[in-house]
Amino acid sequence: DADGTRSFDLTAQAGSTEFSSGVDTDTWGYGQSYLGPTIVADRGEHVQINVTNDLAEATTVHWHGMHLPARMDGGPHQLVAPGDSWHPDFTIEQPAATLWYHPHANGETEHQVEMGLAGMIILHDDAERALNLPAEYGVDDIPVMVQDRRFDDAGQIATDVRGYIGPLGDQVLVNGTLGPYQDVTTDVVRLRLLNASSSRVYNFGFDDSRAFDLIATDGGLLEAPAPMDGIRLSPGERAEVLVNMVPGETVTLQSTPPELGLSARVNEQNAGADTLDVLELRAADALAAVGTVPDALVPADRLAQSDASQQRSFVLNGMNINNRLMDMGRIDETITADSTEVWTVENTMPMPHNFHVHAVQFQILRVGSGPPPPELSGWKDTIYLEPGTRYELIMQFGSDTDPDFPYMYHCHMLAHEDAGMMGQFVVV
Ligand code: C2O
Ligand code: CU
Ligand code: CU
Repeated sequence: DADGTRSFDLTAQAGSTEFSSGVDTDTWGYGQSYLGPTIVADRGEHVQINVTNDLAEATTVHWHGMHLPARMDGGPHQLVAPGDSWHPDFTIEQPAATLWYHPHANGETEHQVEMGLAGMIILHDDAERALNLPAEYGVDDIPVMVQDRRFDDAGQIATDVRGYIGPLGDQVLVNGTLGPYQDVTTDVVRLRLLNASSSRVYNFGFDDSRAFDLIATDGGLLEAPAPMDGIRLSPGERAEVLVNMVPGETVTLQSTPPELGLSARVNEQNAGADTLDVLELRAADALAAVGTVPDALVPADRLAQSDASQQRSFVLNGMNINNRLMDMGRIDETITADSTEVWTVENTMPMPHNFHVHAVQFQILRVGSGPPPPELSGWKDTIYLEPGTRYELIMQFGSDTDPDFPYMYHCHMLAHEDAGMMGQFVVV
């Protein structure tokens, strides 16, 4: 509008969705019956989001992956009561990336996300534009929000079949659609993969095992495309991939058994043995040329261990982090604004966990004693933790300070987060 602020309206509301024909499922969404609109914004833009809660229970909206002041973060302290509204505003001060938004009410996140509260955020910037990557939303730049769901006999969302990691669905929704396909009209497509599931870890690849190019991870573009034929994404993680298409072909994005670092039995109990079809890509008989995959993307801005002023360690043990459960009244870590820190994170139990940090994107210095693989070499805000492996993360905190409002770090398996596998930090 006139003062240069772009505004978005998100109204959390109850509704009903016909996922399968003739069956009405009770669902929630933001201004629609299931999920919410994709928020698209530019680096440097000032945005205001008008959140209204028309549900019968309190909720929050958290901007996962966004660098913003703690008061705008939408964590468990920013509850919006039924009938109330909340109007966070912030300036986008980070590179082009695929982020997302979802509720973060203490103990209620799994339920509210399962009902349908989640949406994608796409940030653009000049560096990304200069690369001429596929960027026509829904045509060659395709949001792929992946959720597993289970429906009971009455067609309602059910979360009673669970692994240690939380609810496990037997059907896959992409952007809220069962059995989805995408018509492809270009010779290269960019898929923005988002694991928006409560618990399931996916290993995305194609049914013909073709290679694709990974171009971006959680926080933005890599230095160069990384060719691969499968990428593991745990809940909350994102990956942008470029896929080459041939006229007239059909190829299916699948999830094959991910490497969870667990014994065969525990792996199976946590859906680690499942193969699922995710999204069928149907190429037209003639495809428009959208150019070649660039050799280089954006220069890596490497954080140096020698700049770190503080080292912290986080041990995930059972449902605890550093032997503590979440306490809304306790600040676990106090961090100095503008400082660089190294966080060592380790899952010491033979069960799956991951780790997400609000307010920053981090880089991974080491996985065990070695360098990170390509998919962990760029900006990340969420990582899967293979049991028994130490991950060393380096991150630089911003200059926004607030002694009263904390940010969160937590396991992003929503059942674990809800059970208290979360801690709080303030930046002062
Ligand atoms: Cu995606 Cu603290 O969350
Ligand atoms: Cu987050
Ligand atoms: Cu966990």
